[in-house]
Amino acid sequence: MSIYKTRRERLINSYEGNTCVIVFSGKEIMKSEDECYDFDVNRNFYYLTGLERNDMALVITKIDDAVKEFIFAQPYSEFIAKWYGDRMPFEEIKEISEVDSVNEYDSLRSTFASMYNRLRRDPEFKVSLDLWQYTATQDASMAVQFANELKERYPGLKIVDLYPAIASLRLIKDEEEIKNISEAIATTKFAQDWMMSFIKPETNEMMMEATFDYALKSRMCNKRAFTTIAASGKNATVLHYHDNNQVMHDGDLFLCDMGATYKNYCADISRTFPVNGKFTERQKELYEVVLAVQKLVESTAKAGVSMRDLNKLVVDFYKEELPKHGLTKDVSEYYWHSIGHQLGLDTHDIDGGLGAILKPGMVITNEPGLYVADENIGIRIEDDLLITEDGCINLAKDLYKEVADIEGFMANYKH
Ligand code: GLY
Ligand code: MN
Ligand code: MN
Repeated sequence: MSIYKTRRERLINSYEGNTCVIVFSGKEIMKSEDECYDFDVNRNFYYLTGLERNDMALVITKIDDAVKEFIFAQPYSEFIAKWYGDRMPFEEIKEISEVDSVNEYDSLRSTFASMYNRLRRDPEFKVSLDLWQYTATQDASMAVQFANELKERYPGLKIVDLYPAIASLRLIKDEEEIKNISEAIATTKFAQDWMMSFIKPETNEMMMEATFDYALKSRMCNKRAFTTIAASGKNATVLHYHDNNQVMHDGDLFLCDMGATYKNYCADISRTFPVNGKFTERQKELYEVVLAVQKLVESTAKAGVSMRDLNKLVVDFYKEELPKHGLTKDVSEYYWHSIGHQLGLDTHDIDGGLGAILKPGMVITNEPGLYVADENIGIRIEDDLLITEDGCINLAKDLYKEVADIEGFMANYKH
């Protein structure tokens, strides 16, 4: 059985009673008359089908304990084939997803109507839709539009949000997901090595970003996990800096926060290294503080610990250590984000919240930072950790982060 079928089975069986789950793949958003923004598939749809095409819907029904699955997709169109290439043939949809019933998208509503006719007297029957949106004012997704339509047409129908059921599945990564994240990290390391070998004083941050992109594409990775942060000097003290347009100077540190993807799974890595290949004494002193706390977090992260516990570890460590290095303001002046987040199909994956207890199979980031604007020093070191019963596995252990390793590599590999 494919991983997608297994995931669908686990999802539908997590619901009690007669249920219909509907997940849309998403729409292409028009940018101008004949151009769309890059299409990015709905992550829940992808997780459950392995498909990444627009205008599709997955429907899973469980009625009297019998489960049925359908995909609704746009049929072949000569016009589309001529202009953009063929749509995915129904046979290929079946093969990838292992959903046997693939139907024309236009029949979604009539299929739903005939199913609902049989169930309308069941007060427990519910439809589960992916209703998540960032803010109430965000444009309605296909799922929200469909939910509104159903509410209007069938006023008694119970509609629930898919999020809790799918979140508890997606939070725990299966073997395939860990393989994909690891592959995304391997590509990120490949690109990171290129960046370290290309950087030199009086080149610019955008050249670093371009080097990262070039390295990714040379490995046939055409999607970054997020907008790269390529920040030198003081810019590295701005958390979400991504202008990436300044000249980098001799004596500055360079911070890059970057991630490749593999099969839509994300890497999320930060590294900080000197523009000229050699840390100053002061840069090294502060870098070692961040590295020490990052290692402390890694040695503490395991099932049963919360992200809040890990973050407190960093703050307590800094309270003790920073004054020894002349940093006497409140810790929040030097470190004001938190230690990390879940990682997976999204860079900031399913939100377990700071209080959430870690479980085996979760993948989290470990990303303490230290930002000292009046010294033009911004440092962040970020790895990706797979949580296990009694510890964690650092999936990013192959990327250089010891001072000696960084300096050694940069001295020996120059473009
Ligand atoms: N790159 C985003 C983050 O580290 O959370
Ligand atoms: Mn990051
Ligand atoms: Mn991160």
